[in-house]
Amino acid sequence: MKKIKVIFALLLLAGAFVAGEAQNMDHKAMKTDKKMVMIEKAVCVIYPTAGNKVTGVVTFTKVEGGIKIVADLQGLTPGKHGFHIHEFGDCTSADGTSAGGHFNPSGVSHGGPMESMRHEGDMGNIEANSNGVAHLEYVDSAISFKGISSIIGRSIIVHEKEDDLKTQPTGNAGARIGYGVIGIAK
Ligand code: CU
Ligand code: ZN
Repeated sequence: MKKIKVIFALLLLAGAFVAGEAQNMDHKAMKTDKKMVMIEKAVCVIYPTAGNKVTGVVTFTKVEGGIKIVADLQGLTPGKHGFHIHEFGDCTSADGTSAGGHFNPSGVSHGGPMESMRHEGDMGNIEANSNGVAHLEYVDSAISFKGISSIIGRSIIVHEKEDDLKTQPTGNAGARIGYGVIGIAK
């Protein structure tokens, strides 16, 4: 009888050990996952909305002091075009409305990218030359790849007109002529 009790106790111990190891491995896997979600770069391919021609690529790269934005677009009318990150990464509508309003997790007023009071999504304007080609490059300190200001899974909208950087809450930039979803880049 005593022998059986001892064997039973040993079996229990062995069981606890196996369970502990399994938990340990789960923990290790979680740590690896955390490493994998450290995002360093994101990308957005811009496609035209119905009746428009703008195309291009926007990259976001983590740098000292924020996120470096590099945008190259073509197929624009010459001049300035409102350029924003919008709330939803939903490009199912023909006119861009499915992207929602400006990305504004802080719930503040519309402004320019260099102002302290601005939507996180306010990148200001992108200016096209006489050939309809535009390039924009700057470091933005209001956006991030993690937390509430994360831009991953949001969208970029290119507008028909110039963002006046003051009209609430849109900058009066007119129709949405192009858009794309911001995704994690390699
Ligand atoms: Cu916009
Ligand atoms: Zn805004």
